[in-house]
Amino acid sequence: MRTLIKDGTVVTATDTVSADVWIDGDTVVGVCHPSLRKTFAAEREIDATGKLVLPGGVDVHTHLDMPFMGTSSRDDFQTGTIAAAHGGTTCLVDFAIQGRGQSLRAGLDAWHAKAEGKAAIDYGFHMIMADVNPQSLAEMKTLAAEGVTSYKLFTAYPGALYSDDGQILRAMQQAAELGALVSLHAENGIAINVLIEQAVARGEVAPRFHAATRPEISEAEATHRALCLAEIAGAPVYIVHLTASRALEQIVAFRDRGLSVYAETCPQYLFCCTDDIAKPDFEGAKYVCSPPMRPKAMQADLWRGLRTGHVQVVATDHCPFDFKGQKDMGREVFTKIPNGMPAIETRLHLLWDGGVREGRITPSRFVDIVATAPAKLFGLYPKKGTVAVGSDADLVVWDPERKQSLRARDLHMRVDYSPYEGRTTQGAPTHVLSRGNVIVENGKFLGKAGAGRYLRRAAFRAL
Ligand code: URP
Ligand code: ZN
Ligand code: ZN
Repeated sequence: MRTLIKDGTVVTATDTVSADVWIDGDTVVGVCHPSLRKTFAAEREIDATGKLVLPGGVDVHTHLDMPFMGTSSRDDFQTGTIAAAHGGTTCLVDFAIQGRGQSLRAGLDAWHAKAEGKAAIDYGFHMIMADVNPQSLAEMKTLAAEGVTSYKLFTAYPGALYSDDGQILRAMQQAAELGALVSLHAENGIAINVLIEQAVARGEVAPRFHAATRPEISEAEATHRALCLAEIAGAPVYIVHLTASRALEQIVAFRDRGLSVYAETCPQYLFCCTDDIAKPDFEGAKYVCSPPMRPKAMQADLWRGLRTGHVQVVATDHCPFDFKGQKDMGREVFTKIPNGMPAIETRLHLLWDGGVREGRITPSRFVDIVATAPAKLFGLYPKKGTVAVGSDADLVVWDPERKQSLRARDLHMRVDYSPYEGRTTQGAPTHVLSRGNVIVENGKFLGKAGAGRYLRRAAFRAL
């Protein structure tokens, strides 16, 4: 089927042009001047007058159907990808997990089984390495050949996902060899555990002590260490969910020395803060994630990082837990509150409203941050992340005037609260297309669970 999106303004990471977009089957075949309409015919037309045509969002940090802290993230690959589509995200990269004592293969196969037949948008996998040993290091080669070209390691969560410096260095050396990218959850988990033990002994058990026991310096130290290890390995490195000004200083310093260092932040760190985690009546539990909420003043530094390009990506770290039945496992003590927040559906709304509309970033920078840069860094570009001839027709018709309520009951994520209850944003999709098929039209889901395809990602290429 040939589709014409007509009279819109196409925005990419580099250009803003008035143009028609022609789609044949699942591929963009033309970004053309309207005069060419005489030459071709379309079976379906979408009128984009007064609207923007953007590449679909690419979310490279999600945790769907993830067992964690004695429970599981609420969204699975069906509910999570449908919610993503409602928010204009057409492609995601989720984290498959190697269990301790398990092979990478077993972890990856388990995640393929979770996604197969359920995902409504295209997806790939990073691999969380929870057990770096000679076997798992050797397995990275097999997995990279299957399109798993990025690996996440943790300096946090000792006894669970944690790796020591030697393990991180070895994984980075292997990644450099294979053309893969290592990403780091950078917090000093060993020091944090001491602070937690001491806080709990003092009776400091409310949600806000989750933030107090994970101080900025522990993120800055672990970020510095990760960057040093990457330099030793001669490997690129990507710091996930960066929150802290002093961690950002490390990123800037290493990038200024010409090293291949990248960083991602998340909407919750741009729009929520320590005031939220300190809310009374256990409401603060809704904002428990790691790294934790930071003081509001740090948000300006993160925005500056996004503007200057030292921070390249905003991904979600979507990891939703219900308030009732999951977050409240930690009513007695914050250490039992499952870490994570819902975000997969609201990323573009928040970034447009708080970023573009408030004059912090341009529309092209918005596209770069939510789609193009993540697609490039994680081996998906140019099929994903741009509007160009030959790209997958993963597109969003974006109405800059359309309002969206961020109340839980107006959203599609399978979680019983919204961190942004009561907030309305301006700027929202009217149409979302996945490989040429309209999967969301004016808030109605028209896609199909199981239509999403697994993406074999290419080797890492520097931005
Ligand atoms: O609190 C978070 N971020 N939960 C998800 C797991 C992780 O560390 O990314
Ligand atoms: Zn993490
Ligand atoms: Zn995460």
